[in-house]
Amino acid sequence: MILRYMAFPLMLIVSSIAVADASDRVELTPQESVHQFAFFNTSTPVWSYNGQIPGPILKGREGTTLQVDVLNRLKEPTSIHWHGLRIDNAMDGVPGVTQSAIEPGNLFSYRLKLQEAGTYWYHPHFNAGEQLERGLKGVLIVEEHKKLPFTQDVVWLLDDWLFMRDGQIYPHFNTHRDLMHDGRWGNVVTVNGKRRPELLVTPGERIRLRVINGANARIFSQSLKGLPARVMAVDGRPVSESFNLERFILSPGNRIDLDITIPSDAAGKTFYLEDRFTRQPLILGSIKVEDVKPSPTPKFDLPLAGDFIPAKLFDNLPVSKTWDLSAIRGGKYGIGWTLNHRLWPNSDKAAFKIGQPVRIRFVNSSPRLHPMHIHGAFFRVLEVNGQTVEEPFTRDTVLVGPDESMVIGLVPEHKGIWLAHCHIQAHAESGMMTTVTFN
Ligand code: C2O
Ligand code: CU
Repeated sequence: MILRYMAFPLMLIVSSIAVADASDRVELTPQESVHQFAFFNTSTPVWSYNGQIPGPILKGREGTTLQVDVLNRLKEPTSIHWHGLRIDNAMDGVPGVTQSAIEPGNLFSYRLKLQEAGTYWYHPHFNAGEQLERGLKGVLIVEEHKKLPFTQDVVWLLDDWLFMRDGQIYPHFNTHRDLMHDGRWGNVVTVNGKRRPELLVTPGERIRLRVINGANARIFSQSLKGLPARVMAVDGRPVSESFNLERFILSPGNRIDLDITIPSDAAGKTFYLEDRFTRQPLILGSIKVEDVKPSPTPKFDLPLAGDFIPAKLFDNLPVSKTWDLSAIRGGKYGIGWTLNHRLWPNSDKAAFKIGQPVRIRFVNSSPRLHPMHIHGAFFRVLEVNGQTVEEPFTRDTVLVGPDESMVIGLVPEHKGIWLAHCHIQAHAESGMMTTVTFN
């Protein structure tokens, strides 16, 4: 529903919206604001939700409905996409596909039925290369019915920024350089908007650390030397078997939830979460263990994925759709990233039947990285370069490396027209987007 904002205070308008069932309601106001980063001595003009960098953490319990009223205070249209949430198609936040863009001064109410507990995030899907980069993003947590007894539940939203010397955000987006490479990589990496935050823990604690890659393009490959960090969920869904953090590449869009027990003899130690994706290892943040007596470690079983999409469902199925990932000259920015040599919105689209397992193949015939994301669905990676793989989890985003080919399997469950695209914003904006229709 779109309402004209006019001169009325927000509360007045909102109270006139008929709410069908009792639900939680929050407001997100995309706006121009200034932010004081701790590492600059001048403030930085940003675009933010509610004046916060990153946006507020939204929380709702599994099985409830969260209403998010978005009042656009920017000078350009926007929308919000709830990355990873499987919701009504009309709430998916893709202008031109599931809704009209929210014009400046307008209000759009998203009603999100929170059906699956997990870690999600939200961001615009309009002029996204610029809007995300200027600061519009935040984390959405759907809490389990029964709270898991971790001693701390911590959110680390990873991001990077391309700042100029004077603390301003470099104001050119989807540049030739970004398009020739793997999009816009920044020169400052932040965690929740801070550089190298320190998390305080005590010996014996068992924490849940939710790590989200909200960067425009940067890819992380993390390590947490000295601490046993087990991945318990990927892209919001529990894994079927936990595994080591070092084995997961976190592309833009990906999330992992870590189960970390602080050894009882670790008093006084500091552990570093490092990124090793590029040649220069980079410290993202640290976990500092206080020099105090250990407390007992909570013992409990992690929720495990049920039989969401057993790999054997896809045995002997032909590939229903192949998308070649490459680039052409032309389009809005001079270089266009393509799926089967066509640019959004004239892309080569696909349609699949609800309930019928499909195999989809991505063939990267370019030397660049493409984290491919599909809205409204989870999928399983079945093959990489012709070799069968069995990941103990499902995803909504997977990195297809240079010259790599990959086969994924998914079972369409939710009716609608869902976007599929590269999550490197410059690639997507220049054309690398399409839709899959589930009907
Ligand atoms: Cu984070 Cu279209 O997605
Ligand atoms: Cu790409």
